[in-house]
Amino acid sequence: MSHVLAAVAWPYANGPRHIGHVSGFGVPADVFSRYMRMAGHDVLMVSGTDEHGTPIQVQADSEGLTPRELADRYNRVIVEDLHGLGLSYDLFTRTTTGNHYQVVQDLFDGLYRNGYIIAKTTLGAISPSTGRTLPDRYIEGTCPICGYGSARGDQCDNCGNQLDPEQLINPRSRINGETPEFVETEHFFLDLPAVAEALAAWLDTREGWRPNVLRFSRNLLDDLQPRAITRDLEWGVPIPLDGWRDRSDKRIYVWFDAVIGYLSASIEWARRSGDPSAWKRWWSAEGEGKDAAAYYFMGKDNIVFHSVIWPAILLGYSGQGARGGSPGDLGALNLPTEVVSSEFLTMEGRKFSSSRQVVIYVRDFLERYDADALRYFIAVAGPESQDTDFTWSEFLRRNNDELVAGWGNLVNRSVSMAAKNFGEIPAAGPLTDADEALLAVARTGFRTVGELIGKHRQKQAIGEAMRVVAEANKYLSEQAPWKLKDAADKPRMGTILHVALQVVSDANTLLTPFLPHSAQKVHELLGGTGVHAPMPNIEEVSDLDGGPAYPVLTGDYTVGARWESVPIEAGRPLKAPKPVFRKLEPSIVDEELARLGN
Ligand code: MF3
Ligand code: ZN
Repeated sequence: MSHVLAAVAWPYANGPRHIGHVSGFGVPADVFSRYMRMAGHDVLMVSGTDEHGTPIQVQADSEGLTPRELADRYNRVIVEDLHGLGLSYDLFTRTTTGNHYQVVQDLFDGLYRNGYIIAKTTLGAISPSTGRTLPDRYIEGTCPICGYGSARGDQCDNCGNQLDPEQLINPRSRINGETPEFVETEHFFLDLPAVAEALAAWLDTREGWRPNVLRFSRNLLDDLQPRAITRDLEWGVPIPLDGWRDRSDKRIYVWFDAVIGYLSASIEWARRSGDPSAWKRWWSAEGEGKDAAAYYFMGKDNIVFHSVIWPAILLGYSGQGARGGSPGDLGALNLPTEVVSSEFLTMEGRKFSSSRQVVIYVRDFLERYDADALRYFIAVAGPESQDTDFTWSEFLRRNNDELVAGWGNLVNRSVSMAAKNFGEIPAAGPLTDADEALLAVARTGFRTVGELIGKHRQKQAIGEAMRVVAEANKYLSEQAPWKLKDAADKPRMGTILHVALQVVSDANTLLTPFLPHSAQKVHELLGGTGVHAPMPNIEEVSDLDGGPAYPVLTGDYTVGARWESVPIEAGRPLKAPKPVFRKLEPSIVDEELARLGN
């Protein structure tokens, strides 16, 4: 058993999540974590809502709320969305906890002491009409990289590049449209050039990454400049240095604090588990965690933060850059094993856009369809390694022709024939070559499907699992047990159904990481009891350091099926099954298209 960290990108708490958000990292990370647990690894899956910075402040302004009120609102909404999808976080928390503030400040401190954070005088914007500082969020302009007209002072939402306000072409104030004036002000910078060599050496040892992610990350090292990690903003983690701590106009940059969330959430999880140092099993590079693996799941606009900025923070904190130094109080920390980045999902050929209503929110989706129907679509047709398009007609087709007519039908006809003719799982007599061949296909599935999920090839993995399903359907058609009605043929009918049910049970296990809700149901249809696929719970907790209470997602995932073929027990009573999946009416396509704005 080894320790596996599944670090899932932190959604901004500035609105409900749409299916594009969860298809890139939430669902793939859950599939991976569920499989790893079933295969016997000790998985820690963490994330939370990203609640600082411009994205939150801007949305709060537009909803007439304080950033704190906005974050409270959407933290809860997002927790519910992720819960509805059955995402098995060990802890889904938030960045406004006392614990997170402390860990962020510890890391800032350690980096500062080792010399990897430097103060620099830069240009800050002021409003010529009032003479006051113009926070980054109030500056907008044309992106110097892609030409997008409404890039923000810290990041372009079109190309995803990080920006500084003074890089914008034609910068303007969002308050009154005036052109800001740039004056000198002091900020702190992460000294990326000082860790460039260490970063390159680390990247050179990476194996198995998606080639485009590795290539992109390597290219980023060619031109590393010190990166500002503080901002002109009132909302965020205070800078933990004398003379700065109490300033209300300067805060730590949201991306610096957010990536540290992976560590702070692991520490929070440990503190809540009753063993406050348990996080070290996944993180401590020279101690208990030295053999642990860490996988980071995100969309491609997040790569730079995970393959450069976060590793740079970890290296500097651990004292492993050109300036040397020694590990901070938390000790030397593990770098990512792999940055697993997905591409983008579009919606009916267009970019998701909440403002233009080109969107389907997770909660609206789950009101009308089952979580596993979406999880299935994401697994077979999601943006794993290229941009892909969600269309309602394709969703309908995949649901009806594959999930319902393929897998649902196999479950349904095997269980109902056995229930009707035997009232229980029939015993198997002597096996024919065809019986043995089918059983072998299912058994090999554990190796092939497992290896593919381990390598983040989930599309191929679910394809292999569905191949087992297709083989079993073919077997039933060929063996036609329904024709073996005579008393003399009944033992053979029992054997065929026994084999079919065994393969249903195996295929169900193979599909469990992808379709956990229905896997639990199939388990019960086969007469199984207890938890087959554990589910997350929403718990209201109090802040460990005296802050306000908040909801978290967590769960006990030590229970549930293992990644292996379990012999079914002849004689177990079976009832006539209810369908596990819902066939959808073709009319939903037009209904859904009508809901999309134009
Ligand atoms: N909130 C960011 C986004 O939605 C992702 C943050 S991931 C983390 O793009 F690295 F900061 F955790
Ligand atoms: Zn841009």
